[in-house]
Amino acid sequence: MELFDVYSLFDVTPVKAKGCTIWDSEGTQYLDLYGGHAVISAGHCPDLYVRAIAEQAARLGFYSNSVQNPLQKELAHLVGEASGYPDYSLFLDNSGAESNENAAKLASFHTGKDRIIAFRKSFHGRTSGAVALTDNPAIVSPFNAGHKVTFCELNDAAGVEEQLSRGDVAAVIIEGIQGCGGINIPDDTFMQDLRSLTSRYGACLILDEVQSGYGRTGKFFAHQWASIRPDIISMGKGIANGFPCGGILVSPEFKAVKGMLGTTFGGNHLAMAAAIATLQIITSEKLIDNALKVGQHLLETIPSKAPVKDVRGRGLMIGIEMHENVAPLRNALLFQKHIFTGVAGKNMIRLLPPLCLSIEQADTFTKAFNELI
Ligand SMILES: Cc1ncc(COP(=O)(O)O)c(C=O)c1O
Repeated sequence: MELFDVYSLFDVTPVKAKGCTIWDSEGTQYLDLYGGHAVISAGHCPDLYVRAIAEQAARLGFYSNSVQNPLQKELAHLVGEASGYPDYSLFLDNSGAESNENAAKLASFHTGKDRIIAFRKSFHGRTSGAVALTDNPAIVSPFNAGHKVTFCELNDAAGVEEQLSRGDVAAVIIEGIQGCGGINIPDDTFMQDLRSLTSRYGACLILDEVQSGYGRTGKFFAHQWASIRPDIISMGKGIANGFPCGGILVSPEFKAVKGMLGTTFGGNHLAMAAAIATLQIITSEKLIDNALKVGQHLLETIPSKAPVKDVRGRGLMIGIEMHENVAPLRNALLFQKHIFTGVAGKNMIRLLPPLCLSIEQADTFTKAFNELI
């Protein structure tokens, strides 16, 4: 049997990794400025993380959500303390898209309404509702397109209010920083407007922090730069440093009803061991402060003159927009300089490294980048 061929692959086979370093099957060493698409938060294979998963696998790998699982409560406590949301509750699932599905469903249950406002250039995942909330017709099938979704322009509070005033909107969903759409940072004042407008018109505010959350931008969640508190916050990617895991933080205003949300694998013992170890490492090694410091250094040292058009981001979520297509540059970074990077669209190199990236490693990237442009 062959694989269903949907991914464009680089001809490189990683077999081992530590911190921000990856080795391939030929023994070639790479610097990781991509983090497997913002997933590796605590660095590759930290000892505590490896031990926690191995010991949990040897003890109990899985049992269903019909029995007590103290690891879920331990994670909820840790996330509440680390994020500044100790009064919210945690529902655990398996991925970013599933978190957004649950967020949208919960908002719809809560308000009794069925339309959701999303934004131009958004990405919220590939499952039915999540992809309908994604502004990319190429990946929305006719089946997905049945959801009631309206796209507004980022930073257009008047446009959002016009939609909300119609009275049928369950939620507004927005990324803390748009990732796939090209590292677009919503204005702090716009975020504050969304908070007050959704409250005024009886809609929920959902913050998709799947990519921008868990310390990546130098705060636990990117929306905390705007000092707002959303109703629901969705998480994924960095939450368990590569072990599949997602979740939503739910404000105390929501009432849990037995059976309203559910999943077979969400919150399983192995994922919890991975997620607890990840957060312990992020906290004890002060990786959120590191993300801010090293991210700031990158923003100050990456050149912003031609052929670079713009360098923007927060913490270790950085986009380098070029005047030309970046595919050849990304190839050269990988195969000549042995540095993994991501892209957003055709003209942007996207940096999403592990949060433990050092200043020296950041400088290695910038030097290689300068040599290639
Ligand atoms: C902002 C955002 N939301 C949701 C998702 C979907 O997450 P997953 O691929 O884990 O379903 C992504 C993935 O890139 C994302 O960047």
